[in-house]
Amino acid sequence: MKISRKISEGILGEGAFDVLAKAKMLESRGVKVIHLEIGEPDFDTPEHIKRAANDAIMRGETHYTPSAGIQPLREAIAEYVGEYYGVKVDWASQVAVSTGAKQAIFATLCSIVEEGDEVICPDPGYPPYADGVRFSGGKPVFVRLRPEDEFRMTPEAVSEAITSRTRAIIINSPHNPCGSMLTREQVKGICELAEDHDLWIISDEIYRGIQFDDFEHYSPMTFTPDRVVLIDGFSKRYAMTGWRLGYAVAPPEILKNIVKVLNVTTSCPAAFTQWAAITALRGPQDFVKWVADTFKRRRDIALAELDKSESLRYVRPTGAFYVFVDVSRALKKLNLDSKGFMEWFMEKRQVAVLHGSSMGPSGEGWIRISFGNSDENVREGCRRLVEEVDRIVKS
Ligand SMILES: Cc1ncc(COP(=O)(O)O)c(C=O)c1O
Repeated sequence: MKISRKISEGILGEGAFDVLAKAKMLESRGVKVIHLEIGEPDFDTPEHIKRAANDAIMRGETHYTPSAGIQPLREAIAEYVGEYYGVKVDWASQVAVSTGAKQAIFATLCSIVEEGDEVICPDPGYPPYADGVRFSGGKPVFVRLRPEDEFRMTPEAVSEAITSRTRAIIINSPHNPCGSMLTREQVKGICELAEDHDLWIISDEIYRGIQFDDFEHYSPMTFTPDRVVLIDGFSKRYAMTGWRLGYAVAPPEILKNIVKVLNVTTSCPAAFTQWAAITALRGPQDFVKWVADTFKRRRDIALAELDKSESLRYVRPTGAFYVFVDVSRALKKLNLDSKGFMEWFMEKRQVAVLHGSSMGPSGEGWIRISFGNSDENVREGCRRLVEEVDRIVKS
């Protein structure tokens, strides 16, 4: 009997979850692994948010909700987004709540892309972008982010990738996996291209607020809000990955499609998590600052270790909680690709990292280190990496 080749051959999935499964397998054999592979904060969700979820359950908020989410949360998102970006957001026609930002990305791509359309994706970049485009029958067009440009997506590179089939440009700042952030001129330049060629911009801002060294965050929402789909969520800023809650803020004509996709895929996110999310947005925000400060400290710890290496290279991350590290000199000596290196390093030194090739074609030769672990584990994981790579390169 036949199965879909579009899925079995065309859709790649998110590599970090495969690495996590491998690490768990090793742990089931009694080996202690340092996890630097998965992109999630290791902190617990703040008490006041957990309490709000408990209260909601006890109140009986345990039923289906409208597919676009409950009205009070959509209102809270409209207010929060409107205030932050200085734009007017209408909750009823522009806001939809999703089961994680990942679903909002998927629903947006399904809502925009038709057979044969092209969507510009950052490379390296978050894998569900390209998979979502493929799923919708479109073609991801990768714009290579170069270490020489500090892994930022330049308007020049985007301009070169635009064709008559281009439908949308995806940007992600702060960026996974590189930790880079777009400058004001770059965001503005990309918005101008979108205007000139009548394109949508899908702006994934899930790491906004986790930024260091006084780097400012810029969004197309402040330049061309009527052609932007803003993707955001609660996973990273509020340490709510397992709650699976995100949202899209979109022009009304796209939002209608997005809600249809949410409707046919999950009906709605869990009701009590939606009620708790209102508390996340409207409650005290000091946790978000603490998250950013903690990741900055860990970034500094990681870089201090990596700086001891004579053979590793990286671009200093200014946001998110990753550093992308060039291990190509070790790969050459070992005759391995980045996936082979990830497996080899996990077996040899019990540290799980993410192979760069899982983040797009130009991620080959690199690995991603996540700071979603304790200061001690980030330091020790990086120390083992430096020790092993330098030994191999020198041998
Ligand atoms: C760039 C980016 N966007 C979106 C997401 C999805 O977040 P979630 O589905 O947990 O809200 C992630 C998660 O790793 C991410 O790295």
